[in-house]
Amino acid sequence: MALVDVMRDMQEQQTILDVRDLKVSFKTPRGHVYAVNGIDFQVTAGEALGILGESGSGKSVSVGAMMGLLESPPAMITGSADYRGTELLNAPASVTRKIHGDRISMVYQDAITSLNPGLKIGTQIGELFKVHRPQMSRGERRAKAVELMEAVGIHSASERVDSYPHEFSGGMNQRIMIALGIALGPDILIADEPTTALDVTVQAQIMKLLGDLRRQSGMALILITHDIGLVAENTDRLMVMYGGRPVETGPTAKVIDRPSHPYTIGLMNSIPQVEMKGQKLVAISGSPPKLSQLPQGCVFAPRCPLARDVCRSSVPEITDIGQDHFSACHFAEEVAND
Ligand SMILES: Nc1ncnc2c1ncn2[C@@H]1O[C@H](COP(=O)(O)OP(=O)(O)OP(=O)(O)O)[C@@H](O)[C@H]1O
Ligand SMILES: [Mg+2]
Repeated sequence: MALVDVMRDMQEQQTILDVRDLKVSFKTPRGHVYAVNGIDFQVTAGEALGILGESGSGKSVSVGAMMGLLESPPAMITGSADYRGTELLNAPASVTRKIHGDRISMVYQDAITSLNPGLKIGTQIGELFKVHRPQMSRGERRAKAVELMEAVGIHSASERVDSYPHEFSGGMNQRIMIALGIALGPDILIADEPTTALDVTVQAQIMKLLGDLRRQSGMALILITHDIGLVAENTDRLMVMYGGRPVETGPTAKVIDRPSHPYTIGLMNSIPQVEMKGQKLVAISGSPPKLSQLPQGCVFAPRCPLARDVCRSSVPEITDIGQDHFSACHFAEEVAND
């Protein structure tokens, strides 16, 4: 094995983000909303982690807590999120300034609203370099902006760099947000539903670009989505969330081949088998848990076709079902072997 491959192997095994028992609740006039109820995950360099779950399962709040995006109060955040030895949760801006938006960047779910309508695209990309890479010259910033726009598939970028957001389509603005996310060569890119607004061809092109970046630079990707086809094709590991808890985690291929939690099975049954790509998750019968009043036992029990008495009275432990694959179901083995 060549030295470069050995080094890449070593880099790939290095944990760069270690999240332990992350909990987030919001104090509201109508009581506490328990949005995230104890999640654990690790991210290694170059890895792609998928976070999959229905609307309201706590995906955005989890990463929002790590990125310092939640106002506190009302948010109450506990647990730990260690990025290369630095604690990110409840950390002062002086600690996270060099990390957030630089070493860990994020493409937001409602990306388009975060572009400034009054600034040319090239200027907006340039601003990022001005703040984080002050040594760069104006010319270098402009050249980099053009390069990034081309990388995300915007043609004639050297002309369009002087256009305003309203002169681009929604999908193009979304690609510009992805360009902003990768501009500083982050260690970790958190992409929250990054390609929902894009057609499948552009979506595939963006995912390929992100995959290439991971292989070349060791960037890790946290891909948050409802789209099971997207995680199936583009992630190494998968965390399925329900009611603010991880219900199943493991290597993506293993989770999809041998789903071991009734919720994951429900998700997989709710989409057509042949063409999984681009499909939204159809709700499993019943409604999502009321986060101000979580059930006493398994959070999925009220909707679970397999629920028994124990499921309604005690919270299931995380069960190791082998090969780095875990399920938070009292009957994990049974479900996995069925
Ligand atoms: N500031 C807040 N105050 C009260 N509740 C909140 C607040 N922010 C988020 N929540 C609640 O936390 C829960 C989790 O929200 P989150 O945005 O993480 O869901 P999500 O999994 O990202 O869903 P989607 O797929 O729709 O983006 C939701 O019930 C939401 O209403
Ligand atoms: Mg969200």
